[in-house]
Amino acid sequence: MCFIELPQTNRLRALHAEMRDAGAPREVFVANANRIIRDVLETCIGQMPYVEHTVKTPVGATYVGTRVAVDVCAVSVVRAGESMEFELSKIFPTLPIGKILIQRDKVSKQAKLFFTSLPEDIAQRHVILMEPMLATGGSALMAISELIAQGVDEERIFFANILASPEGLERVRACHPEMTIVSSSVEQELNQEAFMIPGVGDFGDRYFGTI
Ligand code: PRP
Ligand code: MG
Repeated sequence: MCFIELPQTNRLRALHAEMRDAGAPREVFVANANRIIRDVLETCIGQMPYVEHTVKTPVGATYVGTRVAVDVCAVSVVRAGESMEFELSKIFPTLPIGKILIQRDKVSKQAKLFFTSLPEDIAQRHVILMEPMLATGGSALMAISELIAQGVDEERIFFANILASPEGLERVRACHPEMTIVSSSVEQELNQEAFMIPGVGDFGDRYFGTI
């Protein structure tokens, strides 16, 4: 598996510190989360295949650049994954976005699948799978299984993540060694409640204001 953790720069750690602070108001949480999400998404897209792309600049010169060589779509794991759609739409305004509704049972912590809606041609695309929290890995594994069932090759899945536990990462790595995962932070551990430590609390609740 290709695993990339964003460089733990002072800037990134400052954004994390403000966002993780239990007393952070929602607007600070959302603003900082969005900036980190943007970085994670750009890094994911950077891992895809590229071809050379040459353009003429306004002064008549030639610039030899690149462009993504494959068809892409995104899939968000509802609900927390929907938080990543806003920044994604700024990068790729017309990208198809599939949805997989998975909820963790409040007591057993087991992930449960409720609903899937994916682009018809998803098997021909590279997929950015958006899920900010990788705790036990149960939700991620369920979402990945749905993509594979639709014919998506494992090596075409790019998992865009904000916080990951070592246990969750290992579980996904063991099942899907060809996948790419980009995360902004690997946490210390999971607690008894299957929450990440130090973590951020419930990302979906804090982002969408349902605390
Ligand atoms: C939380 C979180 C992840 C999932 C991670 O979702 O947002 O989706 O748990 O846990 P896991 O790796 O142990 O499966 P939750 O079902 O609580 O709901 P939400 O996404 O609607 O906030
Ligand atoms: Mg979730």
